[in-house]
Amino acid sequence: MTATGSRYRRGPFREGDRVQLTDPKGRMHTITLAPGKQFHTHKGHVRHDELIGAPDGSTVTNTAGVQYLALRPLLSDYVMSMPRGAAVIYPKDAGQIITMADVFPGAVVVEAGVGSGALSMSLLRAVGETGRVHSFERRADFAEIAVANARAFFGEDHPAWTVQVGDLVEALPHEAEPGSVDRVVLDMLAPWDCLDVVSQALAPGGVLICYVATATQLSKVAEAMRDHGTFTEPEAWESMVRGWHLEGLAVRPQHRMHGHTGFLISTRRLAPGVTPPLRKRRPGRGYAPQEDESGSGTGEHAGSSGDDAGSNGSDDGGTAEQEWTPEALGERVASPKKMRKLVRGVVPPTER
Ligand SMILES: C[S@@+](CC[C@H](N)C(=O)[O-])C[C@H]1O[C@@H](n2cnc3c(N)ncnc32)[C@H](O)[C@@H]1O
Repeated sequence: MTATGSRYRRGPFREGDRVQLTDPKGRMHTITLAPGKQFHTHKGHVRHDELIGAPDGSTVTNTAGVQYLALRPLLSDYVMSMPRGAAVIYPKDAGQIITMADVFPGAVVVEAGVGSGALSMSLLRAVGETGRVHSFERRADFAEIAVANARAFFGEDHPAWTVQVGDLVEALPHEAEPGSVDRVVLDMLAPWDCLDVVSQALAPGGVLICYVATATQLSKVAEAMRDHGTFTEPEAWESMVRGWHLEGLAVRPQHRMHGHTGFLISTRRLAPGVTPPLRKRRPGRGYAPQEDESGSGTGEHAGSSGDDAGSNGSDDGGTAEQEWTPEALGERVASPKKMRKLVRGVVPPTER
């Protein structure tokens, strides 16, 4: 069996192939090869016929003598240049998602939203023909763009992919048997709204990973995962990739980089009936667990048994909104003794 799209990834350039042309200044242009067509710039043109039949990695010279390097775009090149209706997950984050969510060949994966389909393509490659990627997207126009993007990349519709237009919260319970999904990836504004349906669909031990753009979303989804009671303690991180400039002796980091794309947060589905084990770490002094309706605290999660729990300085038993103290924000604060020592070190005795 030939893996989907693999025959379009190797061999000499053929009619219909997308080819990335790089000029001597590093500027890139993507063309789709068609017999008799020409690629024009203000300085001359290249005949597509010169590339059809040439090996991947060839050079071609235009009518004005400008030389171009011709290569098939990699998936990472393709997603950055394909048509997009919504922001895409960048390759650096897609790589993290595939690895950290352990998306394996044959896996059943649920994804929402689809946006432009960038992440869907990485998921499809990871699960292969024997897996399934069920993607959900609220907007029909975005779904349409995503399907077209993936079709152009794989050269055909990927057999492991279904794209459904609709809201995940409404659609997922009809589409997935409870406990039948191995991995769920959410890239949307409000992933916390989907936790009930995701929890129901995920198999015990299954992974949920969310990509969010802001720290406020990260905080909200982390608390929702904890409060849900069916997930393990979430882990969050971001990745930064800094390219390097390699020219002669000037080997150094590039001056520009993508300073921020998004945060990732992942958790795993507990077996049915299992309550999350207590967190071992001692919560900060300012940490106040939220109370549930029975007044017993949500807190199997997040350290309600910690000896500092609820000691936020308020006299209401710690149920009021948390105070924004350095401790609550996880900052290390020097003890009064250490402060006195620090002051002795920097302020002359005459001024004390
Ligand atoms: C940033 S885009 C996703 C980009 C995509 N991951 C990619 O790499 O191309 C977020 C999408 O989620 C969709 N969305 C938001 N909430 C949703 C929900 N509850 N169910 C389905 N789709 C949703 C939005 O319409 C939007 O297209």
